[in-house]
Amino acid sequence: MKQRTIKTALTVTALFGLAFAGTAMAEAVEDTLVIDGVEITTRAAAPAHLEGALDEIRSGWLYREADTRVMQADDFDNPGMIFVDRGLDSWNAVDGTEGKSCASCHEGPEAMAGLRAVTPRVDAKSGKLMNIEGYVNDCRTTRMGAEAWGGRSDKMTDMMALIAVQSRGQLMNVAIDGAAAPFFEKGKEIYYSRFGQLELSCASCHEQNNGNYIRSDHLSQGQTNGFPVYRLKDASLTTPQGRFVGCVRDTRAETFKAGSDEFNALELYVASRGNGLAVEGVSVRN
Ligand code: HEC
Ligand code: HEC
Repeated sequence: MKQRTIKTALTVTALFGLAFAGTAMAEAVEDTLVIDGVEITTRAAAPAHLEGALDEIRSGWLYREADTRVMQADDFDNPGMIFVDRGLDSWNAVDGTEGKSCASCHEGPEAMAGLRAVTPRVDAKSGKLMNIEGYVNDCRTTRMGAEAWGGRSDKMTDMMALIAVQSRGQLMNVAIDGAAAPFFEKGKEIYYSRFGQLELSCASCHEQNNGNYIRSDHLSQGQTNGFPVYRLKDASLTTPQGRFVGCVRDTRAETFKAGSDEFNALELYVASRGNGLAVEGVSVRN
């Protein structure tokens, strides 16, 4: 069991009343997530590009309390599943000047199976880096004649939940080579950059200190395989970039906005750190 702290970060954070605390029971739990009789992969060997950084990758589910873990294991208890139903209503609703719904062209949401596991990705046709939100709004604006949905709006997070569930259990496998390579590199650079008065990077918390406690929160590896996430604290769904915004704010930094090129690249990079973990959609967290 490793209890690592970084001296510089510790000194700075102590000044601001933030400190990483290790306890004997701090590591991720040994537990298995089974939903509807299907085991969901929550631990895996780290992908090759993380050599020297992490040996094993773990879902945030393994860092939550038992009652939260149990809630996610049963779709009837998982409060996030309501939003999947709402997403299905939107899927079937006609909207925009073309008089079409998502179903008009894609038929059932099952058509989206597999997509969550490979996004963000560089779209083969447009050459643009696309996440689920990007694809949904592209169809709304260019194919339906409808308004784009806000990146963190209820409509968008409901649709993300519906799309994610279609890939539940599939292993994350975002591409990091070829056309994706420059975005991967940019995202990696941001991941290791220290921000704010606290001079903390994503890695300070989620790589060096996962398993430790910060305030009363058990730090995970900050993986995105569970997104969108139902947060008990907010009683609503959160997107990966919505979470990044909150994490950066906690370092008392002002950095990038959700939907910025920087956060899009970071989303790809963070997703690649979870290559090998299963899509959980919709997961439950604090
Ligand atoms: C007028 C037809 C049409 C409508 C309506 C439409 N789409 Fe699409 N959608 C497409 C086409 C065409 C593609 C591109 C497929 C390709 O490139 O292989 C696409 C691609 C996508 C993709 C990327 C999937 C992939 O495998 O590349 C997503 C996600 C998506 N649509 C979601 C939606 C959602 C959600 C709605 C409703 C809000 C919607 N679409 C409405 C035609 C439509
Ligand atoms: C000051 C420490 C700190 C920093 C710096 C930080 N985070 Fe977090 N992050 C947290 C805490 C605490 C949580 C909630 C507990 C957990 O899941 O780790 C969290 C949660 C997350 C989650 C949700 C994981 C899940 O399974 O639900 C993601 C994703 C994430 N962070 C990504 C990032 C990224 C990307 C950065 C850099 C931009 C970052 N974090 C910076 C403290 C931090």
